[in-house]
Amino acid sequence: MKIAFFDTRPFEKDAFTRANAEFSHEINFLEPRLVESTAKVAQGYPCVCAFVNAKLNETTLKILKDGGINLLALRCAGFNQVDLAAAKRLGITVVRVPDYSPHAIAEHVVALIQTLNRKTHRAYNRVREGNFSLNGLMGFDLYGKTIGIIGTGKIGKILVQIMTGFGCEVLLNDLNPDEEFAAKSKARYVSLEEIYSKSDIISLHVPLTPATRHFIDATSLSKMKKGVMLINTGRGALIDTAALIEALKSGHVGNAGLDVYEEEEGIFFQDLSGQILSDDTLARLLTFPNVLITSHQGFLTNEAMTNIAETTLKNVSDFEQGLPLRNQVSE
Ligand code: NAI
Repeated sequence: MKIAFFDTRPFEKDAFTRANAEFSHEINFLEPRLVESTAKVAQGYPCVCAFVNAKLNETTLKILKDGGINLLALRCAGFNQVDLAAAKRLGITVVRVPDYSPHAIAEHVVALIQTLNRKTHRAYNRVREGNFSLNGLMGFDLYGKTIGIIGTGKIGKILVQIMTGFGCEVLLNDLNPDEEFAAKSKARYVSLEEIYSKSDIISLHVPLTPATRHFIDATSLSKMKKGVMLINTGRGALIDTAALIEALKSGHVGNAGLDVYEEEEGIFFQDLSGQILSDDTLARLLTFPNVLITSHQGFLTNEAMTNIAETTLKNVSDFEQGLPLRNQVSE
């Protein structure tokens, strides 16, 4: 099938070209992000492939449909960037990659936690400049600390296993608790209030929906332990960033590890190093020594990229051949 592949990064082109040996789709790798102003480029294609920061609102979808698109193949797990009701109305089928490697993201959480905790980002720069002082680099043992994991789906569950290995006490919260998993993992489902009041570290693994937008706001932050470490690899808008900045300024939040940011569209994944950063909120976040931001790279492992490419191309083949769509998303 002919695929208009938007927002291409070199590592994606490599992975998809390798995986396509098995599927033989005709992929046109394009640089622009898929938004209203670029959607016309897909004219004449039956399938478009998009990533997390595409803007698939009704207008974009209508332009795609008018241009001949019947299939929207997301090469990511999250689908909050798509107006699913509009896609349904327009007759565009939407597929995604639900679980390419939950390990990649859960392990990135640990990278964020341990970098902030043991301050390896600062130690690295210091030592390279000939500064071998240890002042200001004090960390804490993870052993015996309490971590609250909010959202115990695929990623949250892997994180539970990893943190149990460190000897942490693991508290869980989910709309649909899996008590059997909790018992096996020696973890406990508790209320959000208990997570907030007892956790030294809190990690977010719920999807972004209207109900979870600003899940963490000034009120929930105020209920957390002073000095809490907050980790977000879910979606940026799970946190009210302005409230987080206030909590960082007051010292109430001790560390924040963010792989996602509310306004990351148009910023993350781009090399803006020669430009002035126009987002004042992100610029403020970057001034805190106890904030670590990565540019939505949780998924970025060889294993995850290979799975993403293979599943996306298989989704397209299944659609083309009229087979049942395991990975379809609908309202
Ligand atoms: P999943 O669908 O397996 O699990 C999500 C869990 O959240 C479910 O158990 C669900 O019951 C729970 N949940 C939903 N709303 C809730 C609420 N209001 N309160 C408590 N629990 C709630 O999803 P998975 O694969 O674990 O991924 C989680 C999120 O991680 C994705 O939605 C996506 O946004 C993000 N993600 C980030 C990546 C990155 O590179 N940083 C890569 C992949 C996913």
